[in-house]
Amino acid sequence: MRSRTILAAVLMLGALTAAGALLATGLVTGARADAPEGPLPASALVLPAGPPFASAQDAIEARRKAYKLSGKIFKELKAAVEAGAPVKPYAADVAFLVAWSRKIPLMFPPGSDTGHETKALPEVWTDREHFERDAADYTAAAETLAKLAEADDKAGFARQFQATGKACAACHKAFRARLN
Ligand code: HEC
Repeated sequence: MRSRTILAAVLMLGALTAAGALLATGLVTGARADAPEGPLPASALVLPAGPPFASAQDAIEARRKAYKLSGKIFKELKAAVEAGAPVKPYAADVAFLVAWSRKIPLMFPPGSDTGHETKALPEVWTDREHFERDAADYTAAAETLAKLAEADDKAGFARQFQATGKACAACHKAFRARLN
């Protein structure tokens, strides 16, 4: 009986050691899928080319690329806020959001309303004033977020992050079709 217990303990220890080895090699990190990976490298924070665009396809592809990157940045910011991490390292990421937000109206030229898997709703073109107001609201929110990142004001950043997320969502509600 006792030897069986010891054997079980030894086996368990072996299993734990194996798990430890996996952890050490990075095969099993135990991390959540959305754990913060930190700020994106400067090399990733590159605005897509244009405008002006040679074709509607170029415009659609460029804006989708910029939005995808914005989504990625937003996920990292969220994880940083949730982890209570310092926010100053994210200043460059937020600066990208500000720079990109200023280009939004130009990224939706006439004729880029259909094709190439665009999810933009026709209202982007028929209710242009509202669309550009939403873009400007987002710019203003992101500018404030950038200042709070520079100041490494964690609490202020966390609050303004929510406000900025609302600016994204407001525009999506009016001007973007469901993604899937
Ligand atoms: C002024 C309006 C507006 C604002 C503000 C805005 N978006 Fe969007 N977003 C759109 C539109 C329109 C599309 C669809 C573009 C297309 O498919 O051509 C889109 C698409 C996207 C996509 C899908 C990209 C793809 O093709 O896979 C993501 C992700 C996204 N936005 C994230 C964000 C985030 C994050 C923010 C805020 C930080 C934001 N957006 C702010 C209008 C906006």
